[in-house]
Amino acid sequence: MLNNRFGVNEKGNLTLGGVDTVELANTYGTPLYVMDENDIRNNCREFKSAFDKYYGGNARVYFASKAFSCKEMYRIVESEMLCTDVVSGGELYTALSVGFPAEKIGFHGNNKTPEELALALDSNVGRIIVDNIYELHNLNAMAKDKNKVQKILLRIKPGIDCHTHDYVKTGQIDCKFGFALENGEAVKAVEEVLKMENVELVGIHCHIGSQIFETQPFVDAADIMVALAKNIKDTFGITLSEINFGGGYGVKYLETDKPVSKDESIRLLCEAVKTACETYEFPLPALSIEPGRSIVGDANLTLYKIGVVKNIENVRTYVSIDGGMGDNPRYALYNAEYEVVVANKADKPRDFVATIAGKCCESGDLIQEHTKIQTPEVGDTLAVLTTGAYNYSMASNYNRIPRPAAVMVKDGEARLIIKRENYEDLILKDI
Ligand code: LLP
Repeated sequence: MLNNRFGVNEKGNLTLGGVDTVELANTYGTPLYVMDENDIRNNCREFKSAFDKYYGGNARVYFASKAFSCKEMYRIVESEMLCTDVVSGGELYTALSVGFPAEKIGFHGNNKTPEELALALDSNVGRIIVDNIYELHNLNAMAKDKNKVQKILLRIKPGIDCHTHDYVKTGQIDCKFGFALENGEAVKAVEEVLKMENVELVGIHCHIGSQIFETQPFVDAADIMVALAKNIKDTFGITLSEINFGGGYGVKYLETDKPVSKDESIRLLCEAVKTACETYEFPLPALSIEPGRSIVGDANLTLYKIGVVKNIENVRTYVSIDGGMGDNPRYALYNAEYEVVVANKADKPRDFVATIAGKCCESGDLIQEHTKIQTPEVGDTLAVLTTGAYNYSMASNYNRIPRPAAVMVKDGEARLIIKRENYEDLILKDI
């Protein structure tokens, strides 16, 4: 099986967090997102303890909540003493609704609306990561009206092109996020900030992309960002105290994937920052990162029921499930790869080649093509593994299909954390 978090019990059923997934499907219905709480907590702790070990703890780990945003997730993140990154008024509102400390929230976005900025200012979020010059001026004016001084970081495009899907690359100049380095935009933005009275520049931020397995791009980013901080110090006489390196740490979707451990990723980052600080004679800054996928990504799955097995001779076999691109658009968007298991036959060999199709009225509504699973039959429970990140959070009601429920499993127990939508929910806002 993909990793040691998934198991098989004496009935031959797939288990997660000590819970029988076939029983879960029968109890809560399908489709069903299943998240493993211990795994999420361990991921939080691994990042934190790596910073303690390699950087004396002078660091903040912000969970990038776009990967999985709901009340229970913010409660868990808070209890693990992490910070969180939000990217919309909706995520911010959800975090605040469970009492997430505003000071530990970083607010992102390339086009934050005036309403979103007002919410952020009124709730006293700790950091706003400013994306562009318009936002900078708006924020300063709004903070002035409210008689506040907002701590900010500037989002920088460090000019790094990493190996991942084009849609999730963000470090290169041709990208909608942030201030470019190459054309002097970033330094010009600093000059502007320093004329302002209601924003306080505490640091700089970069995020180079997502699902990255290489380490060199992060090491390069460390050098480039410290060099920029040094340049700012020499040019303007101010010493920035924080550098945020964003998220992007890859997780294992397939047996062949080889992600770098969290400990190793953080060790390399800290060493690269220390080396750069020595080279440029710059005092060690506080570090931040914003992992999303690597906190909620790996020990989770989605359960479905198989409704149709359609064999087209000499072509392929379509196995149709009761969900699809509505609850997981990642194959349609990025050709994302997943391992798939027939949960009630998890002890049998995966020797059947199938294409897993969703129920939307759309040929591209596929979850995986030509993937190996156990011999499928109508009524079987199908598990798509590693769906914790960017599945629930990217789900839609296309074809007016209600969004699934989510349960959290822990030490053999399961609890509902997001209720299943029903038809009434679908027409709630219709007039
Ligand atoms: N920080 C910033 C500023 C980001 O834009 C992102 C992700 C993160 C942190 C978290 O990155 P992570 O650690 O999760 O890689 N929907 C796509 C992924 C989009 C990522 C967007 N930004 C997917 O399903 O693969």
